[in-house]
Amino acid sequence: MKMWSGRFRQPLDPDFERWQRSFEFDRRLLVYELAASGAHARALKSAGILSSDELIGILQGLRQIGEKAAASPAFLEDEEAEDVHHFVEKQLVALIGETGYKLHSGRSRNEQIATDLRLYVRAAIDQLRHELAEWCGVLVDRAEQAADSAIPAYTHLQKAEPVLVGHWLLAYVEMFLRDAGRLADCRKRLNVCPLGSGAAAGATLSLDRDFIAGNLGFDDATANSLDATSDRDFVLEFVSALSLLAMHLSRWAEEMILFSSQEYGFLGLPEAYSTGSSAMPQKKNPDLLELVRGKSGRVLGHATALMLTLKGLPLAYNKDLQETQEPLFDSSDTLLQMLPLVTGWMKAVEFHEERMGEAAQSGFMNAWAGATYLVKRGVPSRLAHERIGKAVQICVERNCELQDLTLEELRSLSPAFAEDFYESLSLSSVLAVHDVRGGTAPARVRQAVVAARQRIESLREEVHAHA
Ligand code: ARG
Repeated sequence: MKMWSGRFRQPLDPDFERWQRSFEFDRRLLVYELAASGAHARALKSAGILSSDELIGILQGLRQIGEKAAASPAFLEDEEAEDVHHFVEKQLVALIGETGYKLHSGRSRNEQIATDLRLYVRAAIDQLRHELAEWCGVLVDRAEQAADSAIPAYTHLQKAEPVLVGHWLLAYVEMFLRDAGRLADCRKRLNVCPLGSGAAAGATLSLDRDFIAGNLGFDDATANSLDATSDRDFVLEFVSALSLLAMHLSRWAEEMILFSSQEYGFLGLPEAYSTGSSAMPQKKNPDLLELVRGKSGRVLGHATALMLTLKGLPLAYNKDLQETQEPLFDSSDTLLQMLPLVTGWMKAVEFHEERMGEAAQSGFMNAWAGATYLVKRGVPSRLAHERIGKAVQICVERNCELQDLTLEELRSLSPAFAEDFYESLSLSSVLAVHDVRGGTAPARVRQAVVAARQRIESLREEVHAHA
């Protein structure tokens, strides 16, 4: 039986009937639909609509539906169910008879879908934050293992200054910990329960909304029924947070692709995550990284699609809202699949530390440190910059590095140069000079590793507390 057939004299056009169904994709909300239905049934009992026996029958029926779905995916093949709400009603009636129809007393699918989606996003956030902790954990492991090896830092993709490999990797940890924080913010705001909002104006029975909210682990009940049944901000916030996460993964992937090219040669691609070419026998391609970069585009597209779907909707529920589900599910699936893969890749990638180190010591990466040497000897910064610039110009003409100039040549540029200038140009001195919090001096990076581990540990504890 349809959930709304009474008013209609004609059956639906069969193509329209198939086309408007959402069960094909909202079946994945079944566990949440069952949990929310259980809470509603309990409230119906307290409101005097269900007897104890009816409540027990409904709860047993709901449990059985969950067990059947877990045991066999074929159970969810249902050509008739319009959506997950209809499916549960149909199955419940098949299992326990007409009492099953009592479950829908005083509620609307509008509040149900709003509730199911909040429960779904909440669970997805917890899973994603768990995966983010694993991913950041591996980045920090690799940062620590890299010890004192250096890599060039680039600005404008031109060599800028040497940094520790650990410092470079910890830059990514910052991005991903921000992503975990954004997801936590989104979780806080979404954790309120729409049940009891009815179709638009509020439930028609006096249901204990605080009980229902608490039963489902929500912090509170929503404050306004019109908003509660039509609000999908939490979907948009979640997918927007995911699009930032995907954008960060894409930037990471792009850099790994560049650094694994022969021209850079900083990284050896792990074979387990690369593929060959059907034509060129020599090839090993960074497919995992390319797909990470490519898939970030679709998540960003989903965030845009959601904004466009929502922007023209008058209050309250409109069927357009059904269109928010697929972009949501696809975004969350995409990231949940991607994070363990990049984590595996990062564990396996080889760092060619010698090659990185050579690159970090050529191309005047010590020029700013050289200018700093002059500044510390009283030369005004602008003039020091200019003198070192002149020295670089001579080197470029001669195809050598700053440390290859004689002291005599240097002193003709500025009398402030002395023998210890050469020491200030060495890789270890250049690194050590960046001795500020957040800088690349080795002691600072060691502290940063410890601090990052603590933050990842707190993230793990928060995720654990929600489990
Ligand atoms: N499948 C619907 C959705 O996702 C459920 C709510 C239907 N409500 C309605 N009034 N037709 O939005």
